[in-house]
Amino acid sequence: MDRTVVLKCGGSTVDELSGDFFESLHELISHGHRVVIVHGGGPAINAALKSMNVQTEFIGGQRKTTKQVLDVAEMVLAGQINKQLVRALQQHGFKAAGIAGCDGGTLTGEHLNEQELGHVGQITAVDDHLIETLLKGGYIPVIAPLAKTKDHGTLNVNADTAAAAVASALGANQLLFVTDVEGIMKEQVVIQHTTPDEIAEMIGTGIISGGMIPKVQAAIKSLSQTLKEVMIVSGKRKFASEASIFGTKITAGKEAALK
Ligand SMILES: Nc1ncnc2c1ncn2[C@@H]1O[C@H](COP(=O)(O)OP(=O)(O)OP(=O)(O)O)[C@@H](O)[C@H]1O
Ligand SMILES: [Mg+2]
Repeated sequence: MDRTVVLKCGGSTVDELSGDFFESLHELISHGHRVVIVHGGGPAINAALKSMNVQTEFIGGQRKTTKQVLDVAEMVLAGQINKQLVRALQQHGFKAAGIAGCDGGTLTGEHLNEQELGHVGQITAVDDHLIETLLKGGYIPVIAPLAKTKDHGTLNVNADTAAAAVASALGANQLLFVTDVEGIMKEQVVIQHTTPDEIAEMIGTGIISGGMIPKVQAAIKSLSQTLKEVMIVSGKRKFASEASIFGTKITAGKEAALK
């Protein structure tokens, strides 16, 4: 079976993906990998809300998503950012097609805590049919992190979590979180390899904070027999060369990295 790589492109980095990033993507595809992209959009959603004078509130790091905020998030994620990424991929010679997680019933979710967080969801099911159809046609599927509810509402989903759910559903062999830093940093040095135990400690001591927390949590949750390692890489530089990938590698245990 073909190897499948799921990339989560951070909203922090979609504006500044480098030529080297796209070169790395070409390299993955030339090595026979099927590539699926899930993207975020935090900074662009913030900018749109500000320009529209819509107030937002963060509760425990999650954006309270009122109906008005959801409409803006959907417009920015499925419209602006999704199309920006598809255009950039096409410009660099890839066939790409953008979808929102709701399209084709790809992502189904439920409210995390409707009272507190409004329309923020967690994913309960992934239907991979549309993704597989696009892959078979030679397209890179580019997915905006929106999910449908069972009763046809829309939910705003954390993009790191959405990427992990897509990777699990596709039985992906690699999950890469592409962000605006070169990996997990400790005292300004990139950590080459780490494990869930070490990550828990780094969250406890505050070395890992902010947006890196949902990312490492999604990474840990997605580790499985099929997906033995997850990487955090930079979108600003080349992340893949020959068979190696540069950034922070997360595995279940230290021995897993020595295979
Ligand atoms: N130990 C750490 N090492 C590296 N980055 C860290 C660390 N702790 C916190 N961070 C923060 O995590 C950020 C990356 O997460 P962030 O959520 O901002 O980006 P993203 O997930 O790529 O984008 P988006 O959330 O819009 O999809 C870094 O820019 C950095 O500020
Ligand atoms: Mg983030």
